[in-house]
Amino acid sequence: MNIQIINGPNLNLLGVREKSIYGSASFEDYLTELQKHFTNINISYYQSNVEGEIINKLHEVGFTADGIVINAGAYTHTSIAIADAIAAITTPVIEVHISNVYKREEFRHRSMLASNCKGVIAGFGMHSYRLGIESLLLA
Ligand code: DQA
Repeated sequence: MNIQIINGPNLNLLGVREKSIYGSASFEDYLTELQKHFTNINISYYQSNVEGEIINKLHEVGFTADGIVINAGAYTHTSIAIADAIAAITTPVIEVHISNVYKREEFRHRSMLASNCKGVIAGFGMHSYRLGIESLLLA
């Protein structure tokens, strides 16, 4: 089974950025744990701060991967283009967030992507990614 994780803008700064919200682990450290947890799954990781690059990655893997777990960062709340890319591909996509966006500013309550995703997981810290992968295994 092949799962693609896609992280959007500013998520390259996990472990450094706003630690009280996002924690002090880097994503690379968490990824090592994740790979140990899911020994029989091939997990690929991609991060970009650039909207078009995220779209290109969705196009690249979105017809062959078994599942995509995406944290589009702030693009979640703004990007019709990423929403369209998710609608265009055939691989199921799970939207995840580290923080509970519904406890935060109102502009984070709206997701442009969610209605094109299989489901949404938010608020479990880095474990949101693990839960995202678990949810793809239910199918
Ligand atoms: C985030 C929540 C977004 O609102 C924010 O812009 C992020 C991270 C999260 O994982 O909690 O960059 O997607």
